[in-house]
Amino acid sequence: MNNCVRIFDTTLRDGEQSPGATMTTAEKLEVARALARLGVDVIEAGFPAASPDDLEAVRRISLEVGKAENGARVPIICGLARTVESDIDKAWEGVRESSHPRIHTFIATSDIHMQYKLKMTRSQVEEKVASMVAYAHNLCSDVEFSPEDAGRSDPEFLYRVLDIAIRAGATTLNIPDTVGYTLPDEFGALISGIIKNTPGIEKCTISVHCHNDLGLATANTLAGIRSGARQAEVTINGIGERAGNTALEEVVMALQTRHQVLDLNTNIDATQLARVSKLVSNYTGISVQPNKAIVGANAFAHEAGIHQDGMLKNNQTYEIMRPEMVGVSQTSLVLGKHSGRHALNERMTALGYALDDDAINKLFDRFKLLADKKKTITDADLEALVSDELYQPKVIFTLDGLQVACGTMGLPTATVRLIGPDGKASVHAAIGTGPVDAAFKAVDAIVNASSTLVEFVIHAITEGIDAQGEVTVRIANSDQPSRMNPQNENEPLRTFGGYGADTDIVVASAKAYLSAINKMLVANGAYGSVEIPAVQTIK
Ligand code: KIV
Ligand code: ZN
Repeated sequence: MNNCVRIFDTTLRDGEQSPGATMTTAEKLEVARALARLGVDVIEAGFPAASPDDLEAVRRISLEVGKAENGARVPIICGLARTVESDIDKAWEGVRESSHPRIHTFIATSDIHMQYKLKMTRSQVEEKVASMVAYAHNLCSDVEFSPEDAGRSDPEFLYRVLDIAIRAGATTLNIPDTVGYTLPDEFGALISGIIKNTPGIEKCTISVHCHNDLGLATANTLAGIRSGARQAEVTINGIGERAGNTALEEVVMALQTRHQVLDLNTNIDATQLARVSKLVSNYTGISVQPNKAIVGANAFAHEAGIHQDGMLKNNQTYEIMRPEMVGVSQTSLVLGKHSGRHALNERMTALGYALDDDAINKLFDRFKLLADKKKTITDADLEALVSDELYQPKVIFTLDGLQVACGTMGLPTATVRLIGPDGKASVHAAIGTGPVDAAFKAVDAIVNASSTLVEFVIHAITEGIDAQGEVTVRIANSDQPSRMNPQNENEPLRTFGGYGADTDIVVASAKAYLSAINKMLVANGAYGSVEIPAVQTIK
């Protein structure tokens, strides 16, 4: 058995389809580029049948990230499809122009799903698997098949279905614990049982796809790998339906850190993990909890006196990985007011960014403004500036001015000036429950679109009274329901994330809000197609 575990990233499919993680096509492209540089083997780029936007995003990723030039290694680009001809056709349309296309088709095999959701008998499901895997195989030589809810399926039926899928042409068999129900030893035994009882399984790659409802996704994925699976389906920061999917960074670092025990490798460049985590968090507006393994703000922080004492004597006392192994910089003081453009460029290069002249000029202007307010500028500050200045959706409305009055006397009031798509300035003043609420209301009045604030998270990037505040928001679009079933009014509303950073937290909040609003306006189609300014972050 080979000792390389393929990393199949589904941030742009299972991650992006979860509540609040909506990304624009341009953002998906930027994430896909970052995933390719990270070294993932497969990018599940979307579910093309879900909407024309999803199809377009998958197609663009195939063309711009999945096309091998001059023999360069590029990931497999995969599109998801139900076992339905029209879905499979759409998935093929999305991936066909990539150098290594894959169609991933799925149908549920647990009794509860078949009886209540599909209203199909076992033999009807078997028939669908045979015909639709064959249909997909006719279009594409690389076909992945998933028996949805495998974790709760009757193993004997599962072996039969997998056998049918193999005979119909599936090359990867993915075993999902769709509802995060299994325990690690059960899931490991399920994979062993499949290997033992499914004829022809040795011709296929076995994949595992775990959800985190009981907080066991990473443990289950590792159990599956230890039983013989050689592909792990994961997302950045573990985003995904409900409690999320298995986190890419956790599986990769478990394999790397415990290499002596597991003797398994991946193709991932772990030093990029922190940066990709931040990119995904900024684009989705889903913040990473501080104590999140590997990429949380506290993952390498030592507060307790005994721990700090141990760390000073030998960092291995309390650290099983060095922070720089996952791209967390330990340098605190980097640059100051007198640092020049060249020093900034050097530091950005050391952090793994290769910015073009235009991007470095924009960043330098922001850096100078920040250096006037803040004595020392850390790597974290620089990363926040990149996110705030460069990783933003197309600017439809720009914040040109903000003034607030707040406190215990009088009504919190905000006056906002925005530059609109026609280049004209609009000013509006509003009152609110606080200065942030007032600022958001003033923005709403100018952009004239209805949305609901779903989440608002604020935190200080560095320590100290002069620290920059970092804000992520999520808003729900009151005008546009989610993608799969626009006719169904019970479908959740589509939500959009935004990010902003500034030493003034009300300004950071207004920027984050506006960045989410800009995305929403683009998704509504009011301002044509959109590009994010291309930021080349090639390491
Ligand atoms: O969780 C799941 O079962 C899925 C399948 C589509 C693979 O995401
Ligand atoms: Zn899933």
